[in-house]
Amino acid sequence: MEKTSLNFNWEFTSSKTNKKSIVNLPHSGLDIPVTHFNLHDLEFIQTYVKELDFNAEDLEKHLEVLFEGAAHNTDVYLNDELIFNNLGGYNRFVVLIKPKLGKNILKVVVDSHENKNIPPFGGVVDYVGYAGLYREVYLIKKPINNINNIKVSYDNILANNLINVEFMANVTNKDFELIILDKNQEVVYKTNSKVITNLTKIEVELPSKNLWSIDNPYLYDLNIKFEGATYETYFGLRDVKFKSDGFYLNGKLIKLIGLNRHQSYPYVGYAMPKGAQIEDANLLKELGVNIVRTAHYPQSKNFIEHCDKIGLLVFTEIPGWQHIGDTSWQDMSVLNVERMIERDYNNPSVIIWGVRINESNDNHDFYLKTNKKAKSLDPNRPTGGVRNMVNSELLEDVYTFNDFIHEGNNIGLQKKSTVTKKKNPYLVTEHNGHMFPTKAYDNEIKRLSHALRHLRVIDSAKMPNNKISGAIGWVFADYQTHAEFGSGDMICHHGVLDIYRNKKLASYSYMAEGSKDDILYVGSNMHIGEYPRSDLEKVYVFTNLDYIKLYKNNEYIKTFYPNKDEFRNLNHPPIVIDDFIGDLIHKNEGLTIKDANRAKKILRAVQKYGTRLPLRYNLMILYLFKKYKMTMDEGVSLFYKYLSNWGTKQSDYKIEGYKDTKLVKTVVKSIYKKYDYMLEVTNNNLVIADTYDVTRVVFKKVDQNGEIATYSFDPIAIEVENLELIGPKLQTLNSGIIAFWVKTTKKGLGTIRVKVANKEYETKVYVDEVNN
Ligand code: GAL
Repeated sequence: MEKTSLNFNWEFTSSKTNKKSIVNLPHSGLDIPVTHFNLHDLEFIQTYVKELDFNAEDLEKHLEVLFEGAAHNTDVYLNDELIFNNLGGYNRFVVLIKPKLGKNILKVVVDSHENKNIPPFGGVVDYVGYAGLYREVYLIKKPINNINNIKVSYDNILANNLINVEFMANVTNKDFELIILDKNQEVVYKTNSKVITNLTKIEVELPSKNLWSIDNPYLYDLNIKFEGATYETYFGLRDVKFKSDGFYLNGKLIKLIGLNRHQSYPYVGYAMPKGAQIEDANLLKELGVNIVRTAHYPQSKNFIEHCDKIGLLVFTEIPGWQHIGDTSWQDMSVLNVERMIERDYNNPSVIIWGVRINESNDNHDFYLKTNKKAKSLDPNRPTGGVRNMVNSELLEDVYTFNDFIHEGNNIGLQKKSTVTKKKNPYLVTEHNGHMFPTKAYDNEIKRLSHALRHLRVIDSAKMPNNKISGAIGWVFADYQTHAEFGSGDMICHHGVLDIYRNKKLASYSYMAEGSKDDILYVGSNMHIGEYPRSDLEKVYVFTNLDYIKLYKNNEYIKTFYPNKDEFRNLNHPPIVIDDFIGDLIHKNEGLTIKDANRAKKILRAVQKYGTRLPLRYNLMILYLFKKYKMTMDEGVSLFYKYLSNWGTKQSDYKIEGYKDTKLVKTVVKSIYKKYDYMLEVTNNNLVIADTYDVTRVVFKKVDQNGEIATYSFDPIAIEVENLELIGPKLQTLNSGIIAFWVKTTKKGLGTIRVKVANKEYETKVYVDEVNN
């Protein structure tokens, strides 16, 4: 089978301008700002035209055009004849073509209007559908006698090495060869046999097996040679079970901790190639989560395939949002179940099929059909259906529920028994989100609360024996949405990352708990002026190290340990710094340890109550004043010296993180002395292959300790050479940091330059080109 890219050089026109241009795919035709855009600017008709040339040999083949996705209503024409219509913005579709010899014109007309007859549309949706031929397109050439739909399944892989391979052939009585290769490309199984009926099923006993898991995402390749062509897929061996007491991967009970993801990006909507999909999956892994939910539709195959490679579990679901349309809309959703399963059947990362419209009401007949469809295509993989009602009708295998009970000062999650029956497997599919929208530029108290809210829910989810399979938070990154949602700027600021995929404070709560790397993140800039009453009462440190040591102006203050009282079930509870004085009053002022502690209590009380001190503190003051012959002025100066800092020189803080006795990481927080900027690319080796490549470019303002200058909105000017910038040339930092994406245009060195104030920063990327 030959698969060639059709992603380059489409002649493009849109109903907005009628001006012709040449574009590459993925493409959205959008030109909208990040915030405050007009939704109607996303609704238009775009026409893509491409000439295809076929020789006599080609015409003897079976020819298809594979569309990975187009939003949302697509007509495909060959030589002006309408040959296919696809309704739905999130599915792959294959169009059989019968071209003539020589030049043919392939025309694709994509209508992005929110058509109420196409899921998810019909109601008001909390996300936008964008536009365009936004995923890749390929030409497939196969011999006339060919096969398709290779599926690998197994139902008891822990107990044996048996797998079933099946595929469809359009002819019978022909030979085929099946080869299975391990990770090192060694052949582990080979057989030659004959296709007898159109559907061939073979049981294969592998000589040995390597299970696919989160830590060891082991993949096998499978090739079938048939009538002169080779057909390829890959698979992984893992056992997935949701039971009434939780989720089991390969027989081991694990907690699923994850985030939901929307597939949208600034400026281009959904239109991002492989490089960006890979980076999102990598970012999720970096956050330390083990599952992602593709809310609320199937996402790019490139994303799913990378999840297979890095061991990130996936909950995928059909397009929808609260609204259920008429019967033809429902039929399309049943078809969406089929499209979802057919595409991702062999992907081991996918552990559950979402077969309900997100947060819709019960609808017995409709959901009987979606479930039946899923089970007929894939009896082995569990189904779920995300709802926001407790004890609703369960036709799926797993009760999947959005639990927004947590409000910052109450329980993290509802008890399973209030949500569903004891016997049902149970997974929380959303939490937080709209309960606490938090911007990257919100004040520190708010950003910290955002982080702690996520952690409290994770802590509840991880409570042993609670029979909850896990919790998937809302949401990975901020996303553009309809005007009815968001903050009036058409953005839902619910992400643990901002829309540019830069980390908000809440990211570090996920990383401290789940990352395999050493994490030490101080959740405060430690500037008293950020706090009401200048009262920096507590600082939360997000870390997976054993303990931290705090130094103030180079003097050792105290050692702090993970807060196991507040977070009983986390592997790595945050460490709370709640004492910035330590033994200093005892050491420097000559008070006994006991009296120094009394003095500390008084200072804290003064901070809290001002001059209206409760009686007991006044009594303590009298006692100390008398004993140490202190004047009022001397007492007040202690306050300024050790606590308030208001009007005195800013303190420098050093936080050392230790593993056992080893110093692993150090963070310094001090008054800004010197600023600099940093320009970083995520990937400086780009490859033009099936289509253009992209990389994310991060530009940030940092102080002398490398700490981001939060609340800085400096204007920047971006220039690129031999690359294309996605988005405007003039941008601003978004609270100290911004990211933008650049696209490849040609082979060679590409330059990215950012100008800020009177400085200039430059970096290079190397662009290679490989034939596809
Ligand atoms: C849920 C919904 C999500 C998102 C979230 C915000 O109800 O499923 O799509 O809107 O709320 O918290």
